[in-house]
Amino acid sequence: MAFSIRTRLTFWYVTLLTVSLIGFGAAFSYSLLKIYMYRTDNQISSVANMMVHTVVKPSGQMFLPRDFDIILERFFGIRTAGNYIQVLDPLGQTVARSSNLEGMRLPITRDTYHAAVNGATTFEIIQNIGKYPVRVVTKPIFVPEKGLVAIVQVGSSLEGIDEVFHSLAYIFMLGAAASVIIASAVGWFLAKKALKPVSEITKLARKIEAENLNERITIEVPKDEIGQLASTINEMIARLEKSFKQIKQFTGDASHELKTPLTILKGEMEIALRSKDDIGAMREALRSSLEEIDRMNYIVRNLLDLAKMDVEKESLPKESVDLDKLLKERLEHFRRLALDSGIEMYILKSIPLIVRGDRVRISQLLSNLIDNAIKYTPSGGTVELSLFEEGAQAAFRVRDTGVGISKEDAPYIFDRFYRVDKARSRDVGGAGLGLSICKGIAEAHGGTLEVASVPGRGSTFTARLPLAAAPAA
Ligand SMILES: Nc1ncnc2c1ncn2[C@@H]1O[C@H](COP(=O)(O)OP(=O)(O)OP(=O)(O)O)[C@@H](O)[C@H]1O
Ligand SMILES: [Mg+2]
Repeated sequence: MAFSIRTRLTFWYVTLLTVSLIGFGAAFSYSLLKIYMYRTDNQISSVANMMVHTVVKPSGQMFLPRDFDIILERFFGIRTAGNYIQVLDPLGQTVARSSNLEGMRLPITRDTYHAAVNGATTFEIIQNIGKYPVRVVTKPIFVPEKGLVAIVQVGSSLEGIDEVFHSLAYIFMLGAAASVIIASAVGWFLAKKALKPVSEITKLARKIEAENLNERITIEVPKDEIGQLASTINEMIARLEKSFKQIKQFTGDASHELKTPLTILKGEMEIALRSKDDIGAMREALRSSLEEIDRMNYIVRNLLDLAKMDVEKESLPKESVDLDKLLKERLEHFRRLALDSGIEMYILKSIPLIVRGDRVRISQLLSNLIDNAIKYTPSGGTVELSLFEEGAQAAFRVRDTGVGISKEDAPYIFDRFYRVDKARSRDVGGAGLGLSICKGIAEAHGGTLEVASVPGRGSTFTARLPLAAAPAA
């Protein structure tokens, strides 16, 4: 079963907290126990040592007073209260015990007894006398020449630690349970807060369509990971919105551009139909219709070019194209048109430069720029073509002395269907697609297209294409 990130985050958070609390509790209890044991052992050890000196005289004689715990306290100042004291003979039989044992005896196991006989002191915990466990030290007393004369046992009840432990465990359990409950609630809340943008993204993505691309995700913390994700998605939606707008604009413009010649065509046909026997009028209507059909043909062809360019970008042919040769060829092609328009056109300079790409498209790029220069330059002007190297790029430049482009229009001339002088452009036959095709071709080849212009003085268009890598020598 798949849980939400929020559930998982909270779960891990709470699990981690619980494990660390238990770990901390265990380490704390263990240390406490160790310290307590250490102190208890020290205490019973010192009582046992004193016992050794009380029970055995320097002469080696045994001395066993009845209430030796009282004597210990009175003469040696050792706190024996609460300590059980027992003295055994070398055979392990009890010979004396402190009054607080009241008829009970501290048991001695076989192992402990053997250890004592062998001279070793043993610390152990004995469970089954009284209500609480008792920590007992068993210490043999040896006298030179006589050997083992007695075994002393001193015990201390672990009642204190037992109580402390129980209270601590109780407090700790309560505290841990409360912390875990609070932590789960806080974790659940924090996870929700942190993941809020994610659910917003989900909600928005679910309802987004072409119609509401203007919607954006509200970002509370723009710098964190989720904030960055949200702003990336916002940027993506913004790009989508822009593309959609462009497509809408383009479809609108294209339909409009095609509708005009169609309307004219329809009008001409109606005139032809109505003109009955007037052959002259009929011929004129047909001639005019043909012109409109040419225009439509031109627009549709260019639109197809543009559409293809969008699709072909990745699969452009990679032929070697000699720009110098291509430029001379284009000059020849346009020589007649320039002459007829009363324009002097020449190549200022040109050097052999090779680029890699689609020959037909690059030729189209040069043609469109030259065509514009001739079209937008009045009779008597000049069009100057040059081809030169600029860094790793080949630069093709068309400079004319024509009407120029104002600062306001310059940013838009590369847009589809954009024409500066709409009325005049119809006479010269432009659809406003040439430059957008040029830009598309330049960019598809990894190049650029720029314009610099002074209205009334002329324009300069520069197309830059990356040079083909020099063939290995
Ligand atoms: N060399 C130039 N001098 C002055 N204006 C220019 C020049 N080249 C382009 N323009 C302006 O930019 C507009 C867009 O040019 P573009 O080549 O895209 O369209 P067009 O020439 O009008 O039509 P098409 O190229 O589709 O036949 C033109 O209408 C014109 O106003
Ligand atoms: Mg043009």
